[in-house]
Amino acid sequence: MQVANSRRTAILRRDAVLATVPVAVAALLAAAGPASASTIGASGAGDPYFPLSGNGGYHVSHYDLTLRYDISSRHLDGKAVLTARATEKLTRFDLDLNGLKVTRVTVDGRTAHFSRSGQELLVTPSRALAKGREFRVAVSYNGTPKQVTDPDGSADGWIATDDGAFVAGEPQGAMTWFPANSHPKDKSSYDFTITVPKGSTAVANGVLLGQHTAQGRTTFRWRQSEPMAAYLATATVGKFKVDQFTTRDGIKVYNAVDPREANGSAAVLKKLPSVLEWESKLFGPYPFRSAGSIVDHAPSIGYALETQGRPLYDSAPDLSTLVHENAHQWFGDSVSLTAWKDIWLNEAFATYAEWLYSEQHGGDSAQKAFDALYARPASDELWAYPPGDPGSGENIFGTPVYARGAMALHELRKAVGDRVFFRILRAWASEHRYGHGTTAEFVKLAEGESGKDLGSLFHTWLYEKGKPNQA
Ligand code: TRP
Ligand code: ZN
Repeated sequence: MQVANSRRTAILRRDAVLATVPVAVAALLAAAGPASASTIGASGAGDPYFPLSGNGGYHVSHYDLTLRYDISSRHLDGKAVLTARATEKLTRFDLDLNGLKVTRVTVDGRTAHFSRSGQELLVTPSRALAKGREFRVAVSYNGTPKQVTDPDGSADGWIATDDGAFVAGEPQGAMTWFPANSHPKDKSSYDFTITVPKGSTAVANGVLLGQHTAQGRTTFRWRQSEPMAAYLATATVGKFKVDQFTTRDGIKVYNAVDPREANGSAAVLKKLPSVLEWESKLFGPYPFRSAGSIVDHAPSIGYALETQGRPLYDSAPDLSTLVHENAHQWFGDSVSLTAWKDIWLNEAFATYAEWLYSEQHGGDSAQKAFDALYARPASDELWAYPPGDPGSGENIFGTPVYARGAMALHELRKAVGDRVFFRILRAWASEHRYGHGTTAEFVKLAEGESGKDLGSLFHTWLYEKGKPNQA
């Protein structure tokens, strides 16, 4: 299990100021009809669990992030240049940014007016952006990033450590260190240029383009060229031992390990190439050109994250965790959620990968894992809510999502047989590669591949309240 205490309470920010439109103006707008529909991009992407995550009115195709982090003072200096396209006419739009001080915003090189409201950075370009227009927003900012801390004590975002920062953004943390359209609906390529004190290493996603030391500082340039959701971005900083090599399949591996975790992680990290090969056989080709691991020494975090192309661990991972986070590269990273409600499409699949790995490597069978869970009494937290409908953001990393979600996949496997089951997993990964998938689409695919009506199976395992009484 990846989640230390299996419970996660995420912060739902409800403090944004609602735009109040004076009655007379509202009446005028209404009278004018659809031609003068709002030209203000929405403050959220429409996700009921995190209403202010993401924004409306544009898509970001690329982030160019230039960061400088001073470890001892914890001061971050940043410039983010976003290449975006307006999906509607925009006189104003929002970015998500939590904390930090914004010093300047430009749109296509012209100074733009900006203001802050809770986690929203409101940008008013000097000229309206026409629908369909590509534009570039540059935001200069600085300050001490503040992690998002949940009531249960788990943290995400830019989390300072004793030798740098553990940077994990799921589900709400990306906006603690860069201005973004921070919802997995919007995926983008990324360039990172990160400067840290000499002797420290800054590890982001994708391929290392180069590193350069001058005047007591080292700058690392990273490129993530495949589309990535903002929450999967990292810029973890610390004292790391680095190991780089290329796999037989041509994937560039970069492992960064805190020396305090080196002994504990060596044997498991050695297995990464064979785990990726095994997963590629089951799920189809590995989706990214980079792979690896960041093994930090930050044990108070209590979880690992499937940061794209290079999972992030708070301490030496066990083999099962390595399998889990790398399975997410197919399920969660390459194929993304459109809404957090569908989180089982990430967590149940990665958990089922652990079961399969065990089954195929001399450990317990998936059936045995299923049986052990099914033996739990109806009062167990496993049955507290259905995995397909966790109810709110605070439940998205709970046991029902991981374990009962994996049980749903096991039931599917038994219903359709191994051959069809693995065909479904591969088709899911390939048909939605670099894109998105919904639960409804998964059910449809499973029914299409198997020729079976699976409605009641998925209803029972994903949506029924309480412990399903058939197994
Ligand atoms: N997605 C992570 C995993 O691989 C879990 C996770 C991410 C998490 N952020 C979290 C768990 C915050 C608890 C709290 O399972
Ligand atoms: Zn997971």
